[in-house]
Amino acid sequence: MVSTHPLGVQHVGGQYLPQNRSTNANLSPNQEMLPLTAKVNGNDCLEIGGCDVTTLVQQFGSPLYILDETTLRLACQQYRDAFQKYYPGASQVLYASKAWNCLAICAIAASEGLGIDVASGGELYTALQAGVSPEKIYLHNNNKSRAELILAIESGCTIVVDNWYELKTLVEIVEEREKSHPTRIMLRLTPGIECHTHEYIRTGQLDSKFGFDPNQLEELFTFISKQSALNCVGLHAHIGSQIFERQPHRDLAVVMVQWFKQATQHGLQLTELNVGGGLGIRYVESDDPPSITEWVKAICEVIQETCASENLPLPKLLAEPGRSLIATACVTAYTIGSSKVIPGIRTYVAVDGGMSDNPRPITYQSVYRSVVANRISAPITQTVTIAGKHCESGDILIKNAQLPEIKPGDILVVMGTGAYNYSMASNYNRLARPAAVVVGNGEANLILRRETYEDLIQQDCLPERLKV
Ligand code: LLP
Repeated sequence: MVSTHPLGVQHVGGQYLPQNRSTNANLSPNQEMLPLTAKVNGNDCLEIGGCDVTTLVQQFGSPLYILDETTLRLACQQYRDAFQKYYPGASQVLYASKAWNCLAICAIAASEGLGIDVASGGELYTALQAGVSPEKIYLHNNNKSRAELILAIESGCTIVVDNWYELKTLVEIVEEREKSHPTRIMLRLTPGIECHTHEYIRTGQLDSKFGFDPNQLEELFTFISKQSALNCVGLHAHIGSQIFERQPHRDLAVVMVQWFKQATQHGLQLTELNVGGGLGIRYVESDDPPSITEWVKAICEVIQETCASENLPLPKLLAEPGRSLIATACVTAYTIGSSKVIPGIRTYVAVDGGMSDNPRPITYQSVYRSVVANRISAPITQTVTIAGKHCESGDILIKNAQLPEIKPGDILVVMGTGAYNYSMASNYNRLARPAAVVVGNGEANLILRRETYEDLIQQDCLPERLKV
């Protein structure tokens, strides 16, 4: 039985098939489950970016991250265009590259006009190496080292200062260095706004390791107003990740304008407000995030209304989405290997990756959907548990996956793996990290080479006296 699924996919006996996608540009990538170019080709195989997924696996091996350039670029454009449409003042979208930081992805985001939010010296180094202009790079982190601060100062990016220790260290560093231009900083504040998402990925509540306590604003603004070597341009806050509710971000916008006013009253000439990221995506059918455009519009409206009622000029507005830019653009293709049927209990189907390439299920109990890519129209006949290949019972990628009959060698595609998968990947059990390709117009290019066994021992040192 073929029925049209409301989520932009057809349900054919249970497997997810992309519908006719002629209206691509109107779809919000974060509300879809498959990349926007996904379709079924004449061989009944899943195709993304004009490339047959099974051919990609033959060519590049598995597991393989397959990143659809069209979907990623469209998400960048929707954020950028929505700010231009709904915000009369200046704006800048930053890609929160913690979601997936590598040269090619930084370069794609930058080519769409986005800046980059980096969370460490390593991410900063990568963005710089990708050719991103330092004026569009913002460095976060709640415990930046001196070396990270110095790299940021020297590169000319903006430092989002998180706490008193960092602020005082920074003052020491800039005073020692006597730079000709003051160092650009923003202040990260804890908004104290609760939202419904997994406890580990909530950052906005007052009991958080991130940001200055908003009860200390008087002291903070007074201190900053005396620092001539620091150019404090604005305020930042982030309330959490994978958020579907609209109200917390509206509340945040109001709170931030009020802080902005308070800073102005202390004589600080702030020009920028950064509302963070956090817009959720649809991993499973029941997930119901607002579209990218709706999210941006809501924030822009509240900032404008609140600035008007407080009689403040419009600040330059920044946002730094990560997941909603990249998650849906990528799928992971695995090869199916062994299965174990436990009669009356469950069937385990093992793939050639697992918690090392996608640690989200074991870390946050995250749920994913999958399809057998080499027999898309095969009817669903069974419910199985997709297990990884790690020496860990909890290494389960998907519980209750609805699959057709399968055999070893079939290609299982897990959807929505662009955010916090590769970036959180590990070498647990000394598995080599997978390759990643970017696909578009029938072409596939490697963006991350598959690790080899030699790579795995590259950092190992075997002191002479330990040799056997
Ligand atoms: N800005 C700041 C300061 C952040 O801490 C984050 C995410 C973002 C922006 C981007 O948030 P997004 O738009 O991606 O929701 N590993 C977790 C997510 C951790 C999010 C950390 N901060 C996961 O896999 O769900």
